Amino acid sequence: MSSVVIVGAQWGDEGKGKIVDIYTEFAELVVRYAGGPNAGHTLVIGDEKLVVRLVPSGILRPNTRCVLGQGMVVDVDVLLGEIDELTRRGHTSVTERLVVSDRAHLIMPYHILVDTLREAGARADQAIGTTKKGIGPAYEDKARRLGLHLGLLRSPDVLREKVALALEAWRPIIEALGGEQPSLEEALAPALSARDRLVPLLGDASHITHEALTRGVRVMFEGAQGTLLDVDHGTYPFVTSSSAVAGGAATGAGIGPSRIGKVVGITKAYTTRVGAGPFPTELEGASGDHLRHVGAEFGSVTGRPRRTGWLDLPALRYAARVNGLDALAITKLDVLTGLPELKVCVAYDTPDGRVADLPIDRLTGPGAATPVLEALPTWTEDLSQARSLAELPEAARGYLKRLEQAVEVPLCLVSVGPGRHQTITLQDPFDAR
Ligand code: IMP
Repeated sequence: MSSVVIVGAQWGDEGKGKIVDIYTEFAELVVRYAGGPNAGHTLVIGDEKLVVRLVPSGILRPNTRCVLGQGMVVDVDVLLGEIDELTRRGHTSVTERLVVSDRAHLIMPYHILVDTLREAGARADQAIGTTKKGIGPAYEDKARRLGLHLGLLRSPDVLREKVALALEAWRPIIEALGGEQPSLEEALAPALSARDRLVPLLGDASHITHEALTRGVRVMFEGAQGTLLDVDHGTYPFVTSSSAVAGGAATGAGIGPSRIGKVVGITKAYTTRVGAGPFPTELEGASGDHLRHVGAEFGSVTGRPRRTGWLDLPALRYAARVNGLDALAITKLDVLTGLPELKVCVAYDTPDGRVADLPIDRLTGPGAATPVLEALPTWTEDLSQARSLAELPEAARGYLKRLEQAVEVPLCLVSVGPGRHQTITLQDPFDAR
């Protein structure tokens, strides 16, 4: 199996960075296929902790090439800042190993402005709680055909004309939101000053990916955000604006779905969500605080405290369905140690009866589905040194078994701490037939 998609099975922040990093040990190519600098993939190497927002997590492997796919939206300042930071830390061959799709879209200053103004001006019940990185407006421009391919950096005159058109289209919106319309020069400044450094990195991501798949080398498609934030399959409208699910890897990387080998979902051992929107198993009080503090659940991009809650098994069943999950990797099992009580959501009660899958469109409003919780045995033992299932306390093994049984997807990995080595590996998805 030469290609694997790694996808978030919840609302993002599942710990994909660490898992991608582990699985890329032997991958030649890592392709990010969706989203932009709204993501924050935390990588821990020894004592070093690094958060990458645009560059694929595989960048820390010196022999791995990394591609930013055409499904992405790119803020040039963030990208250059990341390249500089990686270089400063001694990862010197970054630019030789990085290709940015010339069909990915630029995030422009007016996208960030509109995102910020909208969030500030929205009614409390309508604010999405976005990361204010310009993601939504950049994808809006892509869909209404006013977007800007990164390839336009090669042709500044054409770029200028297109930015002028887009600026006029945004003018009434910026005015209605009480903002100050940027000048053409202001809007163009970041792109123009990034040109010299970025143009040499541009390439045909689809072709590079296809060629690697044809040679049979290991290719990893790195998802960002998570299934429940996907614009089609998430808790709409409280979602991001891209195709975060595994299917997005095909369009976002520019390959056909038949070229995708395995799909691995990543889930935390509990649930978190950052930003607004439904979260049926959300916890308030001591258990929620335990998860937030022991799990260090603060946004890696915005620093916001994450909302925390019990593991939602019907939501994982839903993720298994819409992504076609072949395996699940579970992260942060160690965070559950010492909880005074431990529950999981096993079903939902709806006006039409009890259901085993997440009723995605019935999570709010009249007749909203209510989660059915099941209490499971707790444990107090430290898990961080465990390297096999046998080294886990019985209650922790039981927890994993309950998950596997409810979701009907085998586990491939259990993470018991932030370090690379704090991992119980059960199966290598690249080797699975
Ligand atoms: P946007 O992607 O900035 O437009 O934000 C839309 C929603 O997705 C908000 O609720 C964000 O908090 C959430 N979101 C976006 N990116 C991430 C992520 O990487 N992890 C978790 N939540 C995210």
